Amino acid sequence: MTTATLSSPCSYVIFGATGNLSQVKLMPALYHLEVAGRLPEETMILATGRRPWNREIWIEQVKKMVVAKARGGVDEAIFSRFVQRLDYHQVDLNQAEGYQSLAIKLDQENFPSNIAFYLSIKPSDFGVVIQNLSEVELLQQPHGWRRVIIEKPFGYDTESARALQKRLNRYLEEEQIYRIDHYLGKGTVQNVLVFRFANVLMEPLWNRNYIDHVQITHSENLGVGTRGYYYDTAGALRDMIQSHLLQLMALVAMEPPVSMEAEALRDEKVKVLKSIRPIPQHAVHAQAFRAQYRSGQMPEEGFVSGYLEEEGIPKDSVTETYAALRLYIDNWRWRGVPFYLRTGKRLKKSQSAIAICFKHPPQQLFRNTQIEQLHPNWINLGIQPEERLTTEINVKQPGLTMKTRTINMDASFRSQHEAHTDAYEDLLLDVIEGDRSLFLRYDEVATAWQVVDPVLQVWSMERDYIRSYPAGSWGPKEANRLFEREDQYWRYSLDCCDELKG
Ligand code: BG6
Repeated sequence: MTTATLSSPCSYVIFGATGNLSQVKLMPALYHLEVAGRLPEETMILATGRRPWNREIWIEQVKKMVVAKARGGVDEAIFSRFVQRLDYHQVDLNQAEGYQSLAIKLDQENFPSNIAFYLSIKPSDFGVVIQNLSEVELLQQPHGWRRVIIEKPFGYDTESARALQKRLNRYLEEEQIYRIDHYLGKGTVQNVLVFRFANVLMEPLWNRNYIDHVQITHSENLGVGTRGYYYDTAGALRDMIQSHLLQLMALVAMEPPVSMEAEALRDEKVKVLKSIRPIPQHAVHAQAFRAQYRSGQMPEEGFVSGYLEEEGIPKDSVTETYAALRLYIDNWRWRGVPFYLRTGKRLKKSQSAIAICFKHPPQQLFRNTQIEQLHPNWINLGIQPEERLTTEINVKQPGLTMKTRTINMDASFRSQHEAHTDAYEDLLLDVIEGDRSLFLRYDEVATAWQVVDPVLQVWSMERDYIRSYPAGSWGPKEANRLFEREDQYWRYSLDCCDELKG
């Protein structure tokens, strides 16, 4: 959560700088920070990669990345200033020489001694890079801070996350580690906290007495694209639910923290994650659902191939591209309230939203009138693409009869003229400022793995068959079996009157 003051300058060293994340997110985000005047004066950005490139070639590459993503086009004067900060250094992750020459470059050239290392590389390389950086003493902090940003996934399950953590602990203090979950950098995700804790209206209702259930959805139009090799070893449960959706659930369900300090926030999130009732293996089928997309018609792209035809995917893969869970939080506030989490690729619409369904009023006052069935109240928090908060309430229809209709009280988080910032801009700035509140502590990650591990274990044993859904649909209807009752159903929109039931 960035403040408006400028911090001391630093060197951003990006491992995996030529990769996809750097192209579509990191370099554009750093450029936008330049536009916003938020990069401290002498800050430098050093890309590292295996290719034998030099600074000039790298600048050409960066120009393409920035042109593709710059909001409102590239400002040439600002881009020239940005270019002054850029440099490139060849490093083969497994060869010591590259790290030695990197240490010399950082020491002898014009690089600030505060250094942030961004590991945008394969998770299996995290350990080796940290060890090599440590061997050339780049992780020691005698004259400036040294911070390491680690992309997800942090491990593959509880065991591998523990092993990775143990390895990192040999070379780094916890305060040097920034485990990123880019969802926490999204303005509208942070708005969940503001909505809950900056308004007094909600808190009395925010519990099992008034809330029937909570739904958290992340759906995507896109398929796996060029990331098939990674995705097939992960699947939707690891890729989205273990990280982003459990974080959203923690923000919706946590108790008010004692302050907005990183540790206070993270303590409360961990408490929620620890209170999630473990799914016993025999209940996995009742509480978890998975499926894979086959070919189909997307609303805009038209016909697209199925998952098994994508690049890098084995023909017999049973990796899920759609996953849904029913979870319970066993604490005083939430006991008995189901939380439904759902995510999928190649679905009909791209959207992330939290939908909170309230219970019916305790007294059925309108039973003997023409009101057939009262629509429950809902609060919907649109995270993307619509950044909106809608509240659905019942009002009387005009006229002589006692009939109701549901109306939307609609609030946009951001009006059209207000700037949109990408999650990575916030997070890259937080690293410079040493604010870890939007990064994950190890116990959060480990507890999140414990939530999904039983499901992963059962699914890994069931390798013969996976349900499929046509690309462009909302996923298989069978996912409805997760609901506790027949009157619960998935939301597809933030608008009550618009395709409420899919
Ligand atoms: C990433 C996942 O962490 O989040 C991707 O690995 C997913 O598979 C992406 O597409 C979604 O993020 P966003 O910001 O595009 O909603």
